[in-house]
Amino acid sequence: MNRDLFNTRSHRSKAISDMVLNRPGVVDLAVGDPSWRPPAAVLRRLRQIGDEPDEAMRSGIHRYAPAQGTEKLRTAIAEYYWRTQGWAVDPSTEILVTHGAAQALWLSIFTLTDPGDKVLLPDPCYLLYEPIATALGRQPVRVPTRPEEGFAIDPDEVARRIDKHTVILMVSSPANPTGSMLDTTTLTRLVEICANAGMFLVHDEVLDRFAYAWPHRSAAAVAPEAGSVMMVNGFSKRFGMNGWRLGWLAGPARAVAAAAKAHTLMSLAANSLGQEICAAALNDPAVEVETARMVDEVADRGRRFRDTIVADGLFFCPPGLPQGSFYLFLDASGLSGRARAKFADHPTDEAVTRYLLQECEVAVVPGTSFGPSGDRYIRMSYATSEEKLAEAGHRLSRLDAGH
Ligand SMILES: Cc1ncc(COP(=O)(O)O)c(C=O)c1O
Repeated sequence: MNRDLFNTRSHRSKAISDMVLNRPGVVDLAVGDPSWRPPAAVLRRLRQIGDEPDEAMRSGIHRYAPAQGTEKLRTAIAEYYWRTQGWAVDPSTEILVTHGAAQALWLSIFTLTDPGDKVLLPDPCYLLYEPIATALGRQPVRVPTRPEEGFAIDPDEVARRIDKHTVILMVSSPANPTGSMLDTTTLTRLVEICANAGMFLVHDEVLDRFAYAWPHRSAAAVAPEAGSVMMVNGFSKRFGMNGWRLGWLAGPARAVAAAAKAHTLMSLAANSLGQEICAAALNDPAVEVETARMVDEVADRGRRFRDTIVADGLFFCPPGLPQGSFYLFLDASGLSGRARAKFADHPTDEAVTRYLLQECEVAVVPGTSFGPSGDRYIRMSYATSEEKLAEAGHRLSRLDAGH
């Protein structure tokens, strides 16, 4: 048995979501599971493929895709970066299509580091980074962030933690779980610091469409000459299709070739059907309009939900957040006394999570799932439907009266 894997924490928000799957009364705000469906053009193409099986056979849609991803999808991804970021990526060598961004993250850590290397991670950060690093025998090192600074990572704090064993820094922007975003100045400094230290910056931008405070920037695009940035992205969030499991990584050719080798050994290739359909949709202007409308609705829904649940003072949202994403990272100290009275054996974030499930049937994720600094926090996803959010808001407001 792999000892590193054995000692690794499992994915907590997925575990909570799986646990409440058979409890229909529970409003699940634990996982970032989009309530919106794939764009109309995607569903139309899917139907057309079903209606024309001979054409589908001829186009090779039921066969293995090339290991690196279809040329059509890689070209569409390169066009996406050029169109949205002005970043020129070579689709033949600098892009790898993966099983969701999750696999791209795993491949980035596996490919760019050796066992024993140090991996810098913001505290808090997306909950897959640390367990992947640990499962691979790498050493996670946390970089603290502060709620009063909107959880923005401070480049000086990063620089202070670099030694000769430090090999990569992982960030997400727009960020899960905090909803913060990195501005261009910070991104540029992080790229410089990593390049000067001979390190890679891995920028997870799966939430790029959910940028509200200012337009999203890809780290690779702010300093393309650095050659030390790996971008991770995917279709789950933008197209409401996280079950399709399709994502990508983009970066320097040598690193992408190594990741492609690992990807082939692991799974041969990502799914052909999704690649065919997403290639046509990624730069489609009609899809663009539909996605922009959906993002506006999600942002609006998130703001209204935040305002409802912070109104009674039981939850506190750090000022200015969320700048992006579809998550709220809330200080739940206002509930800690009541929650600890019921669940005395549990730390605050766990006790509050259990309390909310028991008293309101609302599922959330305890803050320490994202790092030790989350001990007073919980994360709520507002990617769910308007009705479910309204119901959750209603149930949480009742807590104010001491129910
Ligand atoms: C920041 C971040 N990165 C990666 C992922 C994984 O995305 P995918 O479904 O593309 O694997 C998620 C999913 O919630 C996420 O929030």
